[in-house]
Amino acid sequence: MGTLQEILSTPLGVIEWFVYLLAAVLFVVGLHLMNSPKTARRGNLISAAGMVMACVMAFIVLLESEIANGFQHGVAVALLVAGIAIGTIVGVWSARKVKMTDMPQLVSVFNTVGGGAAALVALNDILTSEQLPGLVVLITAGLGIMIGSVTFTGSLVAAGKLQGVKFLRKLTLPAKGVWNIGFIILTVAAFVMLCIQPEQRLLWSVLTTVFALGYGLVFVIPIGGADMPVVISVLNACTGTAVAMSGLAINNIALIVAGALVGAAGVTLSLAMSKAMNRPLMSVLAGGFGGASSAAGSSDGPEGTMKETTADDVAVQLVYADKVIFVPGFGLAQAQAQRELADLGELLKNHGVEVSYAIHPVAGRMPGHMNVLLAEANVPYEELIDLDDINPQFPSANVALVVGANDVTNPAARRPGTPVSGMPILDVDKAQNVVVMKRGRGKGYAGIENELYFEPNTQMLFGDAKQGLQAVIAAVKELIA
Ligand code: TAP
Repeated sequence: MGTLQEILSTPLGVIEWFVYLLAAVLFVVGLHLMNSPKTARRGNLISAAGMVMACVMAFIVLLESEIANGFQHGVAVALLVAGIAIGTIVGVWSARKVKMTDMPQLVSVFNTVGGGAAALVALNDILTSEQLPGLVVLITAGLGIMIGSVTFTGSLVAAGKLQGVKFLRKLTLPAKGVWNIGFIILTVAAFVMLCIQPEQRLLWSVLTTVFALGYGLVFVIPIGGADMPVVISVLNACTGTAVAMSGLAINNIALIVAGALVGAAGVTLSLAMSKAMNRPLMSVLAGGFGGASSAAGSSDGPEGTMKETTADDVAVQLVYADKVIFVPGFGLAQAQAQRELADLGELLKNHGVEVSYAIHPVAGRMPGHMNVLLAEANVPYEELIDLDDINPQFPSANVALVVGANDVTNPAARRPGTPVSGMPILDVDKAQNVVVMKRGRGKGYAGIENELYFEPNTQMLFGDAKQGLQAVIAAVKELIA
């Protein structure tokens, strides 16, 4: 794209500018509607409409210039059409097929693609301009290359770790601080040289890309344990920032606004997540946490035995309780047992039992995972109680029913030296009785044993959460009848 004056000098340029402006407005309105679960769906559709408009407009502008030039870049147009077709098919397929529990991996893959695309746009702008790019373009495009490349490799590794790719989850990086600082220095040095010596733009932009790709790898490889949620939202913020920088470099208002919105939302989410997880953001960025990853702590797990219970016994405890707190986690999503949990809640409430749902900010695999899941099962929003408000209530609860939650209830977080140390947890162990529903002895995301399962007031109901809840519901119905 040219300067603003050049763009607005033709009728198509004026239309293009207004379509991008309208698309940007739709992004903002859509994002605003995502504030509430009631309007989030509409917000998503409105933002998607804005994105379709921007893509169609970009294609029309390109087509018009190609027609005027007698299809000099016919191959590029064909590639673009193929790209749009493949992207549409993959997008629709993934939206329909990917399971809710796999959504974080999908978001990470989208971050990979977004960061990579932003870096390529910026690289193209620097390398193909006929005149030497000015300092402003060099800075904005250079930042787009740097941040986009870090996001590309970082998000790729994060997606692999979330998917549970074994070699990635076990991969460690000795002297991670040295690698991190080394790559940061090299990347920034190459970027500064690009700004100082634009005549050597090929050399410096390629080096900036390579070093930034390397930093993305060494940044995410050592991170494991309970830090991944913060890292994913940081990478999300990076994608937005890279897109906004590339938008500034090529003077595209839709890219600038979309990127700025994603960047700002990502930064806000990163700060909220790091606060909720009690992880100083700078320490996560420097790879300060997460060294004690999956394997750590597994050898010297808690001592003692787990006490098993039955669905009938759990039903008795629930029916004779005054106050019950449900504690949902990733296993609930995995078993798709949200409707059964909501049904059990209704049964107990109708029987006069006080029921509430304890929501940990990183339970599951994405921010708000439990809220979305339980909203889907029509659990009233006021029954979902956040960590800070529910924790003081555990001592007065007769039963805490933990359904597929593990790390977010692990008392090991209160001690230093474990992969979950410092993470705020739900104080489930303080309830009078604890029942844990899970399939077996599987560990949580952080890969360590849960000390809660060995407490004297804890009983285990082994089995798939959906089947387990169905059995408990049947037993509760029988008792109430
Ligand atoms: P996890 O610690 O992941 O534990 C889930 C438990 O569910 C497992 O121990 C598993 O044990 C059980 N489970 C799996 N499938 C089940 C099924 N079908 N029925 C019954 N139980 C089942 O879950 P959490 O407590 O929700 O903690 C979340 C973790 O993920 C945290 O460490 C967090 O840092 C991390 N994380 C969160 C996010 C976000 S943003 N929420 C993103 C990335 C990572 P069995 O195999 O024995 O059944």
